[in-house]
Amino acid sequence: MAIETSCDETAAAVIQNGKIKSNVIASQAQLHNQYGGVVPEVAAREHVPAIIPTIDLALKKAKTSLSKIDVIAVTQGPGLMTSLMVGIDAAKALGLALGKPVVPVNHLEAHIYANFASVNNPSQPPLILKGGMTAATPPLKIRRGRGKSFPALILIVSGGHTMLVLMKNHGQLKIVGETVDDAAGEAFDKSAKLLGLGYPGGPLLSRRAKNGNPERFNFPRPMINSKDLNFSFSGLKTAVLYEVQKHRIINPELKADIAASVQKAIVDVLIAKTEKAIEKYRPKTIVLGGGVAANELLRERYKLLAKSCKLSCSIPPLALSTDNAAMIGLAAYYRIKTRQIRPNFLFEPQPNLQLA
Ligand code: KG4
Ligand code: ZN
Repeated sequence: MAIETSCDETAAAVIQNGKIKSNVIASQAQLHNQYGGVVPEVAAREHVPAIIPTIDLALKKAKTSLSKIDVIAVTQGPGLMTSLMVGIDAAKALGLALGKPVVPVNHLEAHIYANFASVNNPSQPPLILKGGMTAATPPLKIRRGRGKSFPALILIVSGGHTMLVLMKNHGQLKIVGETVDDAAGEAFDKSAKLLGLGYPGGPLLSRRAKNGNPERFNFPRPMINSKDLNFSFSGLKTAVLYEVQKHRIINPELKADIAASVQKAIVDVLIAKTEKAIEKYRPKTIVLGGGVAANELLRERYKLLAKSCKLSCSIPPLALSTDNAAMIGLAAYYRIKTRQIRPNFLFEPQPNLQLA
């Protein structure tokens, strides 16, 4: 049983022998939309009533019960302190009451393990509850065996992190590049906010970008030519702000062109730095992870990059790209399997937990 509450998704999943038996996500996105972003206090409060029904539903969907669960895995960090606390308290309480071991999982490492997914029944998509409603999601694409050839180079792109990671084996991770300021997801979110598109900005901005001209605005691509593998995205939001301020009326066409141009600037930088890292580290596989991995343009360009470098490529199924508990369970499964993790109750939430 895996639990994830690091931000604004209350999620629970059941994993058996590395296979996803159920994957339930209760999303608060609609609630935070009215504030233009996640309000930590609101997020934590929302987790409280959602956590037990979400766990219950994950057990039901997996046709199992708590008594049959061997291990409880839970996100330890990074994430919002009070949100993490809800998941961890639930995991510890269940573990103590049922006499089951509890294992802490690093959320960023789990984004990598979204690539190790296989499901019992591929036609059964994860259940996503948006404000209590069940939304249809595309079925998972199964990439059996992919992402397993080491060394792997992983681009992790989420709302709070952007990093290039070299993975020699399970548990052997080295950060080789990082953002020096904003994360890629943050650049999407902040640009979307400036365009008045709402929250979460990434998917909304990329939807707008579909009808836009990505060549109309030449937004900055900071550090794209720097020798290191670090990223910088904070200049982008300033450039978008100036562009927005130049126009008295932001009509849909202008909005779409700005969206497409911003998206292209972000993806150009991500791809250029990944290419540089490939030249330096010569990995066997390139892997994508984190919420921004749901971005269509990035997925396409990442695949093309792998093809041009003759490397295998692993991209998580769409439904496992953004936050979910299945990836937490998979990370715990592989860590336990390779004897790299010990169940314990003596861990606390770590909002700034490092990957390596
Ligand atoms: O990994 P994630 O779900 O949560 C964190 O751990 O932060 O990532 C969320 C980030 C947000 O910034 C969101 O806007 C971005 O991923 N995102 C996208 C897309 N879907 C989610 N960014 C661009 N295009 C998307 N389709
Ligand atoms: Zn995440």
